Amino acid sequence: MSAAMGISKSVEAGAQGDAGLAESGDATGLGRVLEPGVIDVSHGPILYLEDVTVQFDGFRALNKLTLSIDHGELRCVIGPNGAGKTTMMDVITGKTGPRNASVNGRVFLGQTIDLMRMTEPQIAQAGIGRKFQKPTVFEQHAVWENLELAMKADKRWWATLRARLDGSGRGRIEQTLALTGLEDEAYRPAGLLSHGQKQRLEIGMLLMQQPQLLLLDEPVAGMTDEETMQLAALLNGLRGTCSMMVVEHDMEFVAALAGEAGKVTVLAEGSVLAEGTLDAVKRDERVIESYLGR
Ligand SMILES: Nc1ncnc2c1ncn2[C@@H]1O[C@H](COP(=O)(O)OP(=O)(O)OP(=O)(O)O)[C@@H](O)[C@H]1O
Ligand SMILES: [Mg+2]
Repeated sequence: MSAAMGISKSVEAGAQGDAGLAESGDATGLGRVLEPGVIDVSHGPILYLEDVTVQFDGFRALNKLTLSIDHGELRCVIGPNGAGKTTMMDVITGKTGPRNASVNGRVFLGQTIDLMRMTEPQIAQAGIGRKFQKPTVFEQHAVWENLELAMKADKRWWATLRARLDGSGRGRIEQTLALTGLEDEAYRPAGLLSHGQKQRLEIGMLLMQQPQLLLLDEPVAGMTDEETMQLAALLNGLRGTCSMMVVEHDMEFVAALAGEAGKVTVLAEGSVLAEGTLDAVKRDERVIESYLGR
């Protein structure tokens, strides 16, 4: 899969002069008009949460949470049980929103897309893919067909356009099989895959929809050590294809994703407790106190 599959749909920092593809000028001078589906990341962040509060019966699951993820970043989020990590993903994806909960604050995809005003399907169409813990693949269908079905389920106009340009989309399926390390399993029914392979297939299915931002909530739960490191390699290989936010408790997995320089966010009691390199947050007294223990 080429980097162009994901990143090219965003207006990147410093690329505004190259306006032909991504945006069109407005002769009336009323401002620029982005193509539908283009996320404006000209200021850096692909995702921006500001002062987000979510209350369940008066209990604040998120408490003035402010957080931003840069375009192209792979951000790991850690924190104790009940910190609000899943709730944060529910708000980003529209599963929890002003329509069904007490939610305040701002959640933006790029500069211009106000996720709080959108429904769950609209947010998915805008380019946010979410991996839930339990893999949901079509067990009776071959791996190849699972990827094909995921591609055909993509109703966005550019996807249709691209499918036409790509012919059958065969090339994209082959690229995704290679990325997910499932080439040898292409014609096996998905039901026969190991847990780790099913998880990778589901990520492949999400990739067929060409997300700009991929959210993964505890993706290595139930995996063997070997499967865990395979998934780390897969996600590291997706850098340049899409931005990612990964919630995990498995610190070896987090270390494999964050490396020495990657930023890690620690959530506790619905807010950011600490943010920095994994080494720095591990040494933070408040993080040791509330999460890692002594
Ligand atoms: N629909 C809901 N109704 C009431 N309380 C909820 C609801 N969803 C979450 N909560 C509460 O909000 C808090 C945050 O939960 P959340 O699932 O976001 O934590 P988490 O950080 O994902 O934890 P874990 O690491 O265990 O997955 C918890 O106290 C939880 O009980
Ligand atoms: Mg959770």
